[in-house]
Amino acid sequence: MGTLFRMATGVLLMAQIGTSSGQDVARIARGKYLMEGVVACGNCHIARGEKGEPIFSRGLSGGMVFDEPPFKAYAPNITPDPETGIGKWTDAQLGKAIREGIRPDGSIIGPPMPIEFYRRMSDADLAAIIAYLRVQPPVKNAVEKSKYNIPLPPNYGPAVKGIRAPSPKETIKYGEYLANIGHCMECHTPRDEKGMLQLTRLGAGGQVFKGPWGESVARNLTPHESGLKGWNKTEIALAIRGIGKNGAHYKPPMAFDWYKNINASDMNALVAYLGSLRPQPFAGRE
Ligand code: HEC
Ligand code: HEC
Repeated sequence: MGTLFRMATGVLLMAQIGTSSGQDVARIARGKYLMEGVVACGNCHIARGEKGEPIFSRGLSGGMVFDEPPFKAYAPNITPDPETGIGKWTDAQLGKAIREGIRPDGSIIGPPMPIEFYRRMSDADLAAIIAYLRVQPPVKNAVEKSKYNIPLPPNYGPAVKGIRAPSPKETIKYGEYLANIGHCMECHTPRDEKGMLQLTRLGAGGQVFKGPWGESVARNLTPHESGLKGWNKTEIALAIRGIGKNGAHYKPPMAFDWYKNINASDMNALVAYLGSLRPQPFAGRE
């Protein structure tokens, strides 16, 4: 993370510690590890400069614009500013927005906010993320409303409650859990012409991302010849941190600035999960 962002968070964290219980402190610490690591909400919600570079000092005050045929979506301000951010939302309202895609006014949050994957987030991790959001510095920044040329679903499924994460001892299952809350497959799964993910081709890659970096194509993460077959664990872990086999850095928009903070045992679980995927041919053009 950028130094400025970390400093701002640290100051507030200290202020918070003065008034809160040990449990709150642990919760915020877990939230910080997730948010500045595998969960990486900031990769979409952080303020961006003209070249698309993250501006960490402005925090989660609204960031990426997704200009696709089915929609032009703007990632909103999710700092605690009461007017332009989520400052007036209760914890329950925030939880419903993040895990079920429903705002306090009942409207539906559209893609590419990865609700399908966040539905599997545990109650404890959701609470940790909310605790972290609450101690971020409020930033005033009004973000434009998204426009969708496709009908949004009336909901993403029944209300979600009582979710527990699998035990980290179940390495592959826990890796799948991390991949879900890390929304890896939101990018690494092909979409149909309506912009919906083709979940039967999970991990087959092929989505194209255009930006100031030119063009990048999400790779095939399955153990197929056109994917990660033959890669060793170290090579895959290094790639998730942003460095390819040839030593060169990958292009955006994968959340490398966040994923590089994933700890060794979580990284091991993620890599084990990728190895368990059904091998599929690459879904993009070669
Ligand atoms: C892939 C990009 C992406 C990621 C990752 C992402 N979001 Fe979003 N989020 C969006 C977009 C785009 C919208 C707005 C969609 C719309 O306008 O309907 C949104 C909307 C929201 C809203 C509704 C805010 C409002 O004012 O309407 C909240 C709250 C939110 N996101 C929180 C989060 C949190 C917390 C995370 C991480 C756990 C996260 N988002 C991860 C893209 C993303
Ligand atoms: C926002 C979109 C996005 C997200 C989220 C994302 N990726 Fe990626 N990923 C990409 C793109 C695009 C590339 C190729 C970049 C390039 O070619 O320079 C890539 C490359 C990779 C590679 C390199 C594979 C190869 O064949 O070289 C691996 C491994 C990988 N991603 C794993 C993951 C994992 C695991 C996660 C979740 C923790 C994840 N990605 C989340 C877009 C994404």
